[in-house]
Amino acid sequence: MKSIEELRERLNSASCREAEGRVADWLVERERHYGGVCRHVPRRTVSPHDPRAGDVIQNGGMIGGDRMADHGYAADYAEFLMPFIKRPENRIVLAEVGILKGTGLALWADLFPRGRIIGLDIDLSHTRENIPHLRERGGFVNNEPELYEYDQFVDERARVRKILGRDRIHIYIDDGFHEEQTILQSFASIHRFLAKTFVCFIEDNPHIWWRLQELYPQYTVRRRGELTIVTRSPWWLNIKRRMGLARRRVFGSR
Ligand SMILES: C[S@@+](CC[C@H](N)C(=O)[O-])C[C@H]1O[C@@H](n2cnc3c(N)ncnc32)[C@H](O)[C@@H]1O
Repeated sequence: MKSIEELRERLNSASCREAEGRVADWLVERERHYGGVCRHVPRRTVSPHDPRAGDVIQNGGMIGGDRMADHGYAADYAEFLMPFIKRPENRIVLAEVGILKGTGLALWADLFPRGRIIGLDIDLSHTRENIPHLRERGGFVNNEPELYEYDQFVDERARVRKILGRDRIHIYIDDGFHEEQTILQSFASIHRFLAKTFVCFIEDNPHIWWRLQELYPQYTVRRRGELTIVTRSPWWLNIKRRMGLARRRVFGSR
């Protein structure tokens, strides 16, 4: 099952759990289709604020295309993306920070053919080089991704405001530098631009959930292993929190 139309058709007749399972399988398949895991991708441009030593930056390299199958995030993505997938008529705005070769962008563009797909990275060269390959594989037939330079170490609010105009972000994905400082700075840069209904996925950091919950008590922060998921809390929970009646906890942690 490759096309999103086929997937949506199958979702209509499925129970909630079945539907999530089908979306998860589809996400795994699409990630592989667009290249799957890539390793040893050289760091060509890094932030001037990057604290790592020069030899650490030069050696090793980056890994991508590994979120759905290798990290096993597909089921969580399926669960929290479902409300947006079920309403294809809505033009969602999705922003991914840390896009490497653009595998994720191609997948999101398939999933949200009417969506605005925004890629943000300190180094856009790997994505730009790989876009012809992604197109050969059928990527971006319905919508073009937008690419912008972005540094997670700095306050990028002004840039985000300019990029979005009157749009607001429904889906935000942080797969960039993965450290507390960058995750929090980047979240601070985008959080005023989140839509009324939104979901944020912050990948590959098992500790950041509590800092986010502490700093943004108005949101619900869930920890799923190394993945953190942020959504807007229901109004009644915020009232309970203000009155000190709600237990501060991370929902669905496992
Ligand atoms: C793990 S890779 C992203 C993998 C990609 N999301 C995928 O699914 O294939 C990390 C990315 O974060 C970017 N990055 C590193 N430091 C950054 C920074 N300070 N600001 C923005 N992006 C940064 C790197 O250039 C790289 O593209």
